[in-house]
Amino acid sequence: MTVEVDNDEVRTIEAEAVPTRFARGWHCLGLSEKFKDGKPHTVRAFGQKLVVFQSGDGKLNVLDAYCRHMGGDLSQGTIKGNEIACPFHDWRWGGDGRCTEIPYSRRVPRRARTAAWPTLDQDGMLFLWNDPEGNPPPAEVTIPRIEGATSDGWTDWVWNETVVHTNCREVIDNVVDMAHFFYVHNSFPTFFKNVFEGHVATQYMNGTARADMTQHAKDGALKMLGNTSVASYYGPSFMIDDLTYHYEGMDVQAVLLNCHYPIDANSFVLHSGIIVERSEKFPGEAADEMARTMSKYILSGFNQDVEIWRNKTRIDNPLLCEEDGPVYQLRRWYEQFYVDVADVTPEMVERFEFELDTSRPIEAWKKEVEQNLARRAAEGQPA
Ligand code: FES
Ligand SMILES: [Fe+2]
Repeated sequence: MTVEVDNDEVRTIEAEAVPTRFARGWHCLGLSEKFKDGKPHTVRAFGQKLVVFQSGDGKLNVLDAYCRHMGGDLSQGTIKGNEIACPFHDWRWGGDGRCTEIPYSRRVPRRARTAAWPTLDQDGMLFLWNDPEGNPPPAEVTIPRIEGATSDGWTDWVWNETVVHTNCREVIDNVVDMAHFFYVHNSFPTFFKNVFEGHVATQYMNGTARADMTQHAKDGALKMLGNTSVASYYGPSFMIDDLTYHYEGMDVQAVLLNCHYPIDANSFVLHSGIIVERSEKFPGEAADEMARTMSKYILSGFNQDVEIWRNKTRIDNPLLCEEDGPVYQLRRWYEQFYVDVADVTPEMVERFEFELDTSRPIEAWKKEVEQNLARRAAEGQPA
């Protein structure tokens, strides 16, 4: 290891205030089923209070929760046909944001229109389109279909959500941060590559099982060898990870979702969803069990990140070494969602590719794993 010193200046951490603007893009609010119980739901997102309700035609709608009449909370109201009725004076609001009826009045005032968010109910999830400029979603900016989500050959979603108290840029940084997977998540990346293009940012990562972390395999338990992961963010907040777990003699196919939406500038709701493919070795309930186990594992991974975020500081000028991923390029990509469409620059959306040289990390991590094993052997613990 070389240590270069060319001056004695102390490095200063720089951080601008967190943005007060929220990202343009599709955001997942969770499983759509949850909103289909005949009641309106309160969702705090984008610094506002929203109401989510299913109209009589089956569609899920999202409106600003505050009624434009006298400020009543629509999320405490009642669904009547295709409208949400305000609990204060029963004004009826449609999914498009228009007031359609005031039962005690002859006429609906001309300006009776409230904020409505375009929605997408797809593969068991509810998405909303947020755009500070108020434009509808362009056709090419969409959430891809997930085949396994509607297939009997796969399990149902095992879903989790948790509130995290920090700005959501921290989650995005994970896309390029290979080293933290070893130190925070106890995994062992051996291949790591990023590709950013348009509104999509992808992380390719292969990993090998860590001998110092795997539980002592019970008799008959499958031995995990490693995993192959291709994870893409479609826009600022929704990541689909095609994940293959390699076991001795077999592979298990899974889709992991990692998504979030901002509550305000300093907190967000973090979701994870997982489905697992059923196979000969994982038929029926065995695959469901596998999905539940993996979900627990993923949640513990989230908690490891959260613990870091809870204590770290925001940093706009990270000091990087050669084996770190392209943090600055990733943040440039992420910036496209925080500026007006007219201000998106080519550098934000141009194709960018970077493969990390993992030879030095692998060498160092192998050594660390061996040391951990040796120490445990010396302490008389099982490997
Ligand atoms: S405040 Fe909603 S109907 Fe009056
Ligand atoms: Fe992480």
